[in-house]
Amino acid sequence: MAKITVNVSRGKGTISKNLYGHFSEHLGRCIYDGLFVGKDSPVENVNGMRKAAVDALKEIGIPVLRWPGGCFADEYHWRDGIGTDRKRMVNTNWGGVTEDNSFGTHEFMELCRQLGCEPYVNANVGSGTVQEMSEWVEYLNSDSDSTVARERWANGSREPFGVRFWGVGNENWGCGGNMRPEYYADEFRRYQTFCRNYGENKLYKIACGPNGGDVNWTEVLMKNAGRYMDGLTMHYYTVPGPWEDKGPATGFSRERYMLTLRNAEHISAVIDGHLKVMDRYDPEHRVGLIVDEWGTWYDVEKGTNPGFLYQQNTMRDAQVAALTLNIFNDRCDRIVMANIAQTVNVLQAMILTEGEKIVLTPTYYVFALYKAHHDAKHADTFITDAGEVEGLGISPVSASASVKDGVMTVTVSNMDPDHEKEITVDPADFAFTEASGRVLAGDMGAYNDFDASPVCIRPLDGIAVTAEKTVKLTMPACSVCELTLR
Ligand code: AHR
Repeated sequence: MAKITVNVSRGKGTISKNLYGHFSEHLGRCIYDGLFVGKDSPVENVNGMRKAAVDALKEIGIPVLRWPGGCFADEYHWRDGIGTDRKRMVNTNWGGVTEDNSFGTHEFMELCRQLGCEPYVNANVGSGTVQEMSEWVEYLNSDSDSTVARERWANGSREPFGVRFWGVGNENWGCGGNMRPEYYADEFRRYQTFCRNYGENKLYKIACGPNGGDVNWTEVLMKNAGRYMDGLTMHYYTVPGPWEDKGPATGFSRERYMLTLRNAEHISAVIDGHLKVMDRYDPEHRVGLIVDEWGTWYDVEKGTNPGFLYQQNTMRDAQVAALTLNIFNDRCDRIVMANIAQTVNVLQAMILTEGEKIVLTPTYYVFALYKAHHDAKHADTFITDAGEVEGLGISPVSASASVKDGVMTVTVSNMDPDHEKEITVDPADFAFTEASGRVLAGDMGAYNDFDASPVCIRPLDGIAVTAEKTVKLTMPACSVCELTLR
């Protein structure tokens, strides 16, 4: 029997709801045909946004949405996406399809308005200019009557948008310009200088961080540009195998399941490695770590455009999400935002679409189970006697906890694909009278599809409170649960 001891007094502060952020790129069917169907579409929409997707994302409290890329960000020229006469371009990064720019700045702001989330705009360093970036900020945020601000008025938005989160380039070590860290550090210093604050709005300037564990990039950035940034990003994808053989999203082997979870867990070491370097240059922890791309990356579904990165989503993905979000929660003192890649129809998506139909993935339901952590006070969790699962190589149980409005939430995952797990939760001094739970469970390869959605949240029965005020529950094999104590 595994034991989880929860200690409120050893918590690390507030878990920002922005750890539950999302990423949407002009890639495949994430924006077009996913979130944005256009006003004239037969698909039910509000101002062109797919209503069912917006409703579903509101339900999980989407706090922040990153756009327009990704690699696309560094070839995106924002003026192509405003006004009536929009330039058509080729999306050279993703599938070579024609991008008609019908989804641009105003459409993104409208999407965020409907979602009730904050926009995070990632601007172009790789193929853009300082003036272009500077004027985008002005266009979005200026409350003056400058020519650029008036252009925004003419396009229908008299009020400034007040965008705060501002990304200066994406993966500039790769698709964003193949830069050396020394060069990018200087470019970051220059570009950010001309990203001005307008009115009361203060930009949160985000520098491009490393890929995975490249701490040299972090080192050079922090050393040379640390004082000019508010946040530094990091990307981490869980790829279960070599790039040429990532394996399928469904119908995978038990070994591939284990490898996926082991690779997912490795994000904790990568994050800690970066934080260690950041700490050296920023002992006050002024600069926040932003994991603005994370998630699973498998071989694309057969018969789909390889550049569209469309993959199904199973209980394996739910486990990756649960484990990763527990890891983020436990580092909430340093991670200020995270954005899963990507919201709809791309990589580890929340939602898949086909015509008018949508499917909510197992990953979506994990975000639903973890919603109570948004802006809650973190509590420490300590796991003992979790046992072992042959071939897994990491603890088969992960957990994190928080308290909000006098209610404690403990999220737990049982990664064992074959066996249920008895768990005792000891909330130490936390006083409660009621314990209840919800669970997401299924075979490791179970998934939802357009004709049937077997994977969904159910009540977790059989929760018992002992005389010593510990809580006993049995988690099904391959499950994620939310335990609520009130
Ligand atoms: O999310 C897909 C791609 O992965 C992004 O465009 C890029 O930033 C990363 O390499």
